[in-house]
Amino acid sequence: TPQRTIEVYDNADELYRAAAALVAAQLAAALNERGRALVALSGGSLTTRLYPLLANPPWRDQIDWGGLSVLFADERYVPFDDAENTYRATRQTLLDHVPVQADQVFPAPTYYRDPEQAAAIYQQQAAALLAVHGGAFDVVLLGMGPDGHTASLFPRYPALTAPADRLVVVVRDAPKPPPLRLSLTPAALNAARAVIFVVSGADKAAAVAAALAETGDPLDQPTRLIQPAEGKIYWLLDRAANPQG
Ligand code: 6PG
Repeated sequence: TPQRTIEVYDNADELYRAAAALVAAQLAAALNERGRALVALSGGSLTTRLYPLLANPPWRDQIDWGGLSVLFADERYVPFDDAENTYRATRQTLLDHVPVQADQVFPAPTYYRDPEQAAAIYQQQAAALLAVHGGAFDVVLLGMGPDGHTASLFPRYPALTAPADRLVVVVRDAPKPPPLRLSLTPAALNAARAVIFVVSGADKAAAVAAALAETGDPLDQPTRLIQPAEGKIYWLLDRAANPQG
């Protein structure tokens, strides 16, 4: 099992500052070592709380943005100009404010009428990027919902048991709107040198307890399927989300 680090911060402000510092340090180390880095970003509160920090000093200046490639851990299947689109939100709070060129960013192609076709295209892009980056993401950035979902991997959904060679799946009837989504699979997310979960708020405490437990059915707790064989896992929590209080 991968090495797991759990860090608890007094409040959400401190949590997100620590998350920005960790993400910047991990990316800077990868860029230093290999001259390039591959990151998978998530949406939700990360776009409003974490990305604005990364877009500003001091963290912004620690990353050599020109060497970065950006994929999305999941995406809501809505057009790029829809307020729900994670790529759009990520541009607004991060990507438009840092020296990242358009050809470094790989949004999930939600402009296909057929989401299965979009998943197939995104799978090809993910596979090509992983190949260039030595087979692994340098950082996979994830949140977790109160129901225990991460990326768009919801408890007991078929995406959880996708074949090991599938990197991207279509998720239908998601309980969190919008219902149609694309998600990287557990196998794809496990191709990571570091997985960083950032979780805040009292409504997450029960799910955090289940996520960190060694017992129970992982299909009920999708974060437990995230076990990067060659990577480290970080759980960054605020005190409210910490089941120990
Ligand atoms: C979304 C995100 C999703 C998110 C979790 C946690 O569709 O909202 O892509 O993967 O990371 O739902 O979100 P919160 O941190 O906002 O609870």
